[in-house]
Amino acid sequence: MVNSNSAVPVGVIGANGYTGQELLRILAGHGGIEVTFATSDSASGGQTVVSGLRLIPVAEAPVGEVALVFLCVPHGRAAEWVEVHGGHGLRIVDFSSDHRPGSGRESRAVYGLPELFRRAIVDAELVANPGCYPTGVILALKPLVDAGLIAPSRPVIIDAASGVTGAGRSAKRELLFAEVAGDYRAYSLGNTHRHLPEMQTVLCGVPLVFVPHLLPVARGILETIYVPLLPGLDAGAIRAAWRERYAGERCVTVFEDRAPALADVVGSDRVGLGVVRNQGIEDLATVVVALDNLGKGASGQAVQDMNLMLGFDEHRGLRC
Ligand SMILES: NC(=O)c1ccc[n+]([C@@H]2O[C@H](COP(=O)([O-])OP(=O)(O)OC[C@H]3O[C@@H](n4cnc5c(N)ncnc54)[C@H](OP(=O)(O)O)[C@@H]3O)[C@@H](O)[C@H]2O)c1
Repeated sequence: MVNSNSAVPVGVIGANGYTGQELLRILAGHGGIEVTFATSDSASGGQTVVSGLRLIPVAEAPVGEVALVFLCVPHGRAAEWVEVHGGHGLRIVDFSSDHRPGSGRESRAVYGLPELFRRAIVDAELVANPGCYPTGVILALKPLVDAGLIAPSRPVIIDAASGVTGAGRSAKRELLFAEVAGDYRAYSLGNTHRHLPEMQTVLCGVPLVFVPHLLPVARGILETIYVPLLPGLDAGAIRAAWRERYAGERCVTVFEDRAPALADVVGSDRVGLGVVRNQGIEDLATVVVALDNLGKGASGQAVQDMNLMLGFDEHRGLRC
């Protein structure tokens, strides 16, 4: 539990990337924690975008001085860091896919999706923060899987589109402005996206076809999901399952009369869920999910996990 009289010291590894910067923005408004260190090898000596903290090389991070570390680093790097520093009581929230379901290392971590795994997160030493695409897909589909609404004989088809910050801040030719602006393209076609094992594992093997697209906006994810339902069910059954599962959940908004759009969620730490019936094909419902990839899709969710782990109010500092 937190001592209400003093700020809890935390550290941010990878503070100069997109998720690290967004994390620092959220933490600056939290009030119950103090960012003791923020690392960046390429920008060390410079200052963080928020609060002007001096960035230090990752090798100089005073890990022993903090209660919790956020790892906002690429996959592979996070696992290496945990091998060296984990297992000694330090609480860790890993943004990468290294310890998520389907990674082969999932037994070492708790999956950090609070709406589904809240109780386990409270005591976890290592939390695997969910991926941005999986956060929306799993929040939409898990209640339907658990309630047995999905027809087992047909796949669930997911058309997902992400803004460009979803690919990280390091320079890549295919992400140059001239390549992206005015374009809209699918990638990782043929069920090859690396987030797929995470979704399939948490959704108990429901067959998925996942088609990600690159959307020429800075941030935001929109996922359109075609859900085959058991005979006799329609979109109303999906809405009822969500209402039951997410009653009182501040980071999940069930839209009653329309589909959520990016404008509803960008800059927030919540997910919007909507569902419509398809005239003439009642047993195939269309679900629309919207979230900010840097908010509920990454840094907002990580702060939600931190709040649970350190004994704060779960939504403290969040923009739900
Ligand atoms: N972007 C998203 O929407 C999103 C959503 C969910 C999850 N994630 C995951 O979150 C993690 C961070 O993503 P991001 O988009 O913030 O990436 P990013 O913008 O590319 O930033 C990554 C940061 O990690 C630092 N870094 C690189 N290698 C490192 C190492 N060996 N040790 C320590 N730091 C290292 C980088 O370089 P410097 O140290 O030189 O500054 C940079 O500051 C990734 O695992 C990503 O898959 C991203």
